[in-house]
Amino acid sequence: MTRPAAAGAAPRTARGIAASAGRPVVVGEEGAGEAVRFASVPALREGLGMVGYLADDGLAGVVFLADRLGKPVLVEGPAGTGKTELAKSVARLTGARLIRLQCYEGLDESKALYEWNYKKQLLRIQVENAAPDDESAGRWNEIEDDIFSEEFLLERPLLEAIRASEPVVLLIDEVDRVEVETEALLLEVLSDYQVSIPELGTVVATQIPLVFLTSNNTRELSEALKRRCLYLHLDYPSLERERAIVLAKVPDVTEQLADQVARIVRSLRALELKKHPSISETLDWARTLVLLGIESVDEATARETLHLLLKYRTDIELAAKELAAATARDSA
Ligand SMILES: Nc1ncnc2c1ncn2[C@@H]1O[C@H](COP(=O)(O)OP(=O)(O)OP(=O)(O)O)[C@@H](O)[C@H]1O
Ligand SMILES: [Mg+2]
Repeated sequence: MTRPAAAGAAPRTARGIAASAGRPVVVGEEGAGEAVRFASVPALREGLGMVGYLADDGLAGVVFLADRLGKPVLVEGPAGTGKTELAKSVARLTGARLIRLQCYEGLDESKALYEWNYKKQLLRIQVENAAPDDESAGRWNEIEDDIFSEEFLLERPLLEAIRASEPVVLLIDEVDRVEVETEALLLEVLSDYQVSIPELGTVVATQIPLVFLTSNNTRELSEALKRRCLYLHLDYPSLERERAIVLAKVPDVTEQLADQVARIVRSLRALELKKHPSISETLDWARTLVLLGIESVDEATARETLHLLLKYRTDIELAAKELAAATARDSA
């Protein structure tokens, strides 16, 4: 059987920071003898801002280090705080291809790594059997070699990222949904950036992808996986940043409305709610207010549109009470 192993060291790709959205404008800088993607933490933060992702230096610092150290980033935090968007934005910024592995319960090797195309293999065998041939025993080895070749391999996201010849960003989204066994598989791939396919050999990455794993913390991830990654906790943003996100993402919103929206959402997050409003919900609310032609939010408007921010009846009731109390306090 042929075993064309794609072996070799895994040099880093020579990329610098992309200066404009979607275009791989490289201003590469060599660091510690290796090519790097980002010139500096402030440059990375600014670059992210240019592709619509507003980050602080803490966040940019973790991504910067991930690139320099060749380590994955584990991004944890509540829903809708920009975990997935971070990976997408880094891909946009560097002009790299985004390869996404969406995790779910039951995800296994055949969907994460690779599987053989059984239907095609079967067809190949049937075609062979249809042709009269007396030396069938000798032919079998040939067929076996053939059906376990590249042509019959179905590449899944992890293998695709390892084999990519161009720079890629690998997003392993919602990793807390997979079982512990699949987590071990991820760990194996992320430790060595190589994959062993028994019939083909070992595939070693020719470039280290920038990897983001996201988690909503529905279960504790293994110590081993955490150890392998740089950790980034994304929480709800500060008032100033949320206002800036609204201004950047909602067309036609005024500064005054963006400020009001950010303030009200912030006050709601201070309440004991089942589910606090996330950045996605802030953006949905702001877009709705703009569509309704509202320039300034009063108590009645806020109450009538609370269902865009909150998704539980008890939360909506509590928030409505708080809004009424706040208005009474203000007018007193
Ligand atoms: N720092 C940010 N700058 C700009 N937009 C942001 C930022 N953070 C979040 N957003 C916006 O918030 C929305 C939600 O982000 P995203 O889908 O990445 O959340 P998430 O943390 O992956 O949520 P979930 O856990 O539900 O998957 C997106 O529309 C994104 O554009
Ligand atoms: Mg997400």
